[in-house]
Amino acid sequence: MKIHVADHPLISHKLTVLRDERTDSPTFRHLVEELVTLLAYEATRDVRTKTVSVKTPVIQTQGLKMAEPAPMVVPILRAGLGMLEGMVRLVPTAEVGFLGMVRDEKTLQASTYANRLPDDLSGRQCFVLDPMLATGGTLVAAINYLIERGAIEITAICILAAPEGIAFMERAFENSPASITVVTGALDTKLNEHGYIVPGLGDAGDRLYGVV
Ligand code: URA
Repeated sequence: MKIHVADHPLISHKLTVLRDERTDSPTFRHLVEELVTLLAYEATRDVRTKTVSVKTPVIQTQGLKMAEPAPMVVPILRAGLGMLEGMVRLVPTAEVGFLGMVRDEKTLQASTYANRLPDDLSGRQCFVLDPMLATGGTLVAAINYLIERGAIEITAICILAAPEGIAFMERAFENSPASITVVTGALDTKLNEHGYIVPGLGDAGDRLYGVV
């Protein structure tokens, strides 16, 4: 598994505002979108391209365009939805599938409650959007779901990650034939006893959409 911590000063600045408990939901949503666009720039470094011919006002030349099939972007509901706009702004040709995962707050186990994805993901590059890589349970379950449908190249884009979650994912995909990458804005210190990332930013879903 590859891990990329995108420690760019702009990302660090936006993350610091995001972490601040005084940041309101509209600002939080806006910052998440901006952060995802910056993270997506890193995450799409290996997106597949094809050579095409293009006529400039000066000469016929060759350039690169994104190859088919288009990448599949999969936000994990509910908090991953807040990352979708920032991702599709950068990759407007991407297709979007949805995966609803819920975490039992006692056992911290993740399970699927909804999905809207093609049955066959063979040959697709997939980008999973989940703001908080905490225990790793949700992401491992989501990525396994995509692997079962044939995906072999999967990149998870996370705003924050905990070392425990990264370690859990590394163990889970140690012998996987799929290529798994995690791109995160920061690697935080630890998880607390409630499964929250420390220092973290609290409950990403609640901060995006309010407590429901
Ligand atoms: N999910 C969140 O929203 N926040 C955390 O800190 C951990 C999991």
